Amino acid sequence: MARTRLVAGNWKMNKTAAEAKAFFEAFNAMPQTAGSEVVFCVPFTSLETSVAMTEGTKIGIGAQNIHFENSGAFTGEVSAEMLKATGAQWVVLGHSERREYFAETDDTVNKKIKKALEYGITPIVCCGESLYQRENGITFAWIASQLRLGYVGISAEDAKKTVIAYEPIWAIGTGKVATDDQAQEVCAFIRAELAAMYDEETAQSIRILYGGSVSPDSAAGLFSMPDIDGGLVGGASLVAEKFIKIVNA
Ligand code: PGA
Repeated sequence: MARTRLVAGNWKMNKTAAEAKAFFEAFNAMPQTAGSEVVFCVPFTSLETSVAMTEGTKIGIGAQNIHFENSGAFTGEVSAEMLKATGAQWVVLGHSERREYFAETDDTVNKKIKKALEYGITPIVCCGESLYQRENGITFAWIASQLRLGYVGISAEDAKKTVIAYEPIWAIGTGKVATDDQAQEVCAFIRAELAAMYDEETAQSIRILYGGSVSPDSAAGLFSMPDIDGGLVGGASLVAEKFIKIVNA
């Protein structure tokens, strides 16, 4: 099954709206090889500017979190409906930084996936092991648990509308990228796990991205692996010249 390559930038807590505008002025002018879908997941405060700056292009815009309730007394939070109203279509969910610093759990990730799907927003669901877990041989058990709990009560039809990002925590922001084989091994495991949770056809249609220190140098090798359908790119997505090289890798 042909899966369209997806390269998603995760800006994390970077760029004001003015900086986002300047970024897209530069990025939109750069020649892009056909074949990859491109998405930027930006801070809430840059959503409207980013949506406006990419109107009429094929670039998608998303956020990096939503709340799982519709509205109410959740100080500081943003709902799926609010996100949708900005024109954004994507959201990163369950990023390891949110799990570590903001008490995100498989249960809240599960509720957020359901809420995003209810609003027609495509979730990019993150999973990944720490170095301690890898060194102690529980990478696969850990990822299986994140997937199975994250997707509780989600039908095959809905699962197909999601994207999964495998991001080994030890590779995020460290410059220590997983080798092509290490990344492929876990992405193939994720696909096998999806086949066990759902069926082969569902597993084959879900895009699985690799994330963790993806750079213009490492992108082509990683993206050529059979179960890696693109990347979730942090640091290198902040600089238009670097990110376009990854998109065109
Ligand atoms: P990085 O971040 O590319 O800066 O390692 C990836 C991510 O956290 O999504």
